[in-house]
Amino acid sequence: MLLRYKKSGEKIAMGLLSFMPEEKEFKKLQDTIHTYETDPNWHLFLWKKEEDFVGLIGVESVDGICTIHHITVNPSHRGEGIGKTMVDKVKTILSCESFTASAQTKSFFEKCTEA
Ligand SMILES: CC(C)(COP(=O)(O)OP(=O)(O)OC[C@H]1O[C@@H](n2cnc3c(N)ncnc32)[C@H](O)[C@@H]1OP(=O)(O)O)[C@@H](O)C(=O)NCCC(=O)NCCS
Repeated sequence: MLLRYKKSGEKIAMGLLSFMPEEKEFKKLQDTIHTYETDPNWHLFLWKKEEDFVGLIGVESVDGICTIHHITVNPSHRGEGIGKTMVDKVKTILSCESFTASAQTKSFFEKCTEA
């Protein structure tokens, strides 16, 4: 189930974000979370499996163009299709004319959109 990020989930979101290679430093993580909490164009979602939050996807929406900036899945749950499902679900939640990826998420996004 894909749920919108809430402040109460800050620690779990930062833990998941830290699996992104460019989000290793605590200061960078804090800045990223702050952007999602304060900028209305930035949307953060967590994937809940049973009782646990095991995935995260973050998207920037500008003028109908949505860019996936962050996507991570807890290592214990990788390869279960959660990453691809989050990409599919977020497309149904956000009304965007088109979806694209940042340099950091491009390779997985392209994998998801393979025929
Ligand atoms: C990328 C990530 C979110 C995928 O999550 P997942 O739930 O395991 O993904 P799915 O189960 O939906 O898909 C798995 C497939 O994606 C492939 N894949 C995993 N990481 C990939 C990457 N960085 N680029 C391209 N393909 C990737 C797997 O090899 C697998 O392929 P297969 O189905 O042909 O065996 C997860 O590996 C992760 O959290 N990585 C660390 C964070 C990160 O680097 N994010 C940016 C990725 S570009």
